[in-house]
This record gives sequence, C-alpha cells and structure tokens, in this order.
Amino acid sequence: MQQPLLELQNMEISYDGQPMVTGVNLKMKQGEILGIVGESGSGKSTLIRATMGLLDCAGLVNRGDIFYKGQNVIDLDAEALRTMRGPEMGMIFQNCGSALCPIRTIGEQLYETMEQHGFKDRQEVRRRADTLFNKINLKDSERILNSYPFELSGGMNQRVGIVMAMILEPDLLFADEPTSALDVTVQAQVVKEMMALRDEFGTGIAIVTHNIGVVSYMADKVAVMCQGRLVEYGDTRDVIDDPQEAYTRALIQAVPRIRRR
Ligand SMILES: Nc1ncnc2c1ncn2[C@@H]1O[C@H](COP(=O)(O)OP(=O)(O)OP(=O)(O)O)[C@@H](O)[C@H]1O
Ligand SMILES: [Mg+2]
Repeated sequence: MQQPLLELQNMEISYDGQPMVTGVNLKMKQGEILGIVGESGSGKSTLIRATMGLLDCAGLVNRGDIFYKGQNVIDLDAEALRTMRGPEMGMIFQNCGSALCPIRTIGEQLYETMEQHGFKDRQEVRRRADTLFNKINLKDSERILNSYPFELSGGMNQRVGIVMAMILEPDLLFADEPTSALDVTVQAQVVKEMMALRDEFGTGIAIVTHNIGVVSYMADKVAVMCQGRLVEYGDTRDVIDDPQEAYTRALIQAVPRIRRR
C-alpha cells in the first residue's frame, strides 16, 4: 500500500493551555485534494499551522502525531522544519498580505526565498514567476516584482502569496482560504492552477474554504470542522449527497445548484 502523504493522528492543539482542536485524525494520499470547511473559529487555520510547525508561542500541540511521508514532524527541529517548508509542505496563508515583509519588494522576497531553497539562477526564477503570474491574471510582473506589498491591492498580494507557494512545487500544499480576497474570475483561475499543479506534479492539496462550490468542484475528500473537532470526514460526493451533520447540511443548502451536478 502506498505510504500516506500526510497522516494526522489524534491531534490536540491548545492556546495558552486551553485545548482548541481535539481528536483530529485524517489521512491524505499523494495527489489528493482535501477540502476543509467549518465555521469561523472552528480551528481550521490552527490545524494547518500546527501541521506546518507554524504555531505562534501561545500555541502547542499537546498530543498526537503528524506523519509527513512517514516521518513524524513533531520530532523535527526548527532547522529541519524550515528546510521542509516550501519545497515539501507549502502554504498559501489566509491573509497573504500580512505574511509578506512590508519593507522589501516582492521581487527581493521571492529571490531570497528561492535562493534559500537552492534556486540561484534569478532568470530562471523570473521565468517561472512570470508564467505563474500570467496564469492567475497578474499582468505586469515587472511592476509587481518591483513593488512593496503596500503598493499592491489585497487581491494582488493574495496572488503573490499563491505564486510564492506554488513556485517551489511543494508535494503538499496547504491553502488557507486562498481565494477569499479575489473576484470570481480570478478565483476560478486560481482553482484551475491548483488543479493543474496536482495533475502535473501529483501535489496533495488541503484547501480551507467557506465556498462549498469550490470544495464540490475540486476536492476528493472533505473534512468538516466544528468547535475544534472533525465532525464529518469522507469522500466529497458522499458528504455532499448525504451530509450527516446539521452544519454540513446548512452549508450545502446555501448552494442549491451543487446538488444537481
Ligand atoms: N494565536 C492565537 N492565540 C490564541 N488563540 C488563538 C490564536 N489563534 C487562534 N486562536 C483561537 O483558536 C480558535 C480557532 O481559531 P482558528 O483561527 O484556527 O479558526 P478558523 O477555523 O481558521 O476560523 P476562520 O474561518 O475565521 O479563519 C479560535 O477560538 C481562536 O480565537
Ligand atoms: Mg482561519
């Protein structure tokens, strides 16, 4: 049997000693797309940040294991985690603008990140960036690269964050509401690009979204979170056709079209 790309076992995560996420078990295969849905504050971002070793100092994984390609991430030191983040596990942040450094241009940040991961050839980085920018409708990549984050709109910064995560072609990509700041046309382009990444490189993608239409369209499996727990988890079709939880039913009923697909 193929080794899971990611396996979370009985995860419990707390902030300041207060458990916020409890008893989460899930498994992703290579190339699988997992949709994570759930109301605001249910612990979706917390779960992702913990998996990537990115909890702030108030946060702690109290219990459980995080196996990435069979290796327990909990056992890794900060340096090993840093090397892993980017080319192995990538992340599109919920609010990409604030994840960018405000006093350095997008280009400087992009080149530096790529250099840290062994991509020294700036022209090659530039070529890759241009191609990705173009695909998600960021037309003038010269201007983007020469800009500081505050000179760009929210939606532009969001797309910069998407490009920064995708350009390293990670094996597992976490996308925390990647499209919420974007208009619908661009949302569709981003969804298309993520699926292209999966098809081309076998990237596993865990996408947090409030848009059940996006989940229905792209996800193989769906996990529903409520108050720090996984209340529903299964194949997307099964969950959408026969939701067990009232919360999931309400989400789906808000988008009647997807039932008729
Ligand atoms: N850095 C932090 N310190 C303390 N508590 C936190 C921190 N980050 C999140 N929390 C708390 O943990 C809970 C889960 O938050 P989280 O951000 O994971 O929710 P979410 O499901 O991603 O919500 P949203 O859909 O609004 O993004 C919330 O009660 C939140 O207040
Ligand atoms: Mg969140």
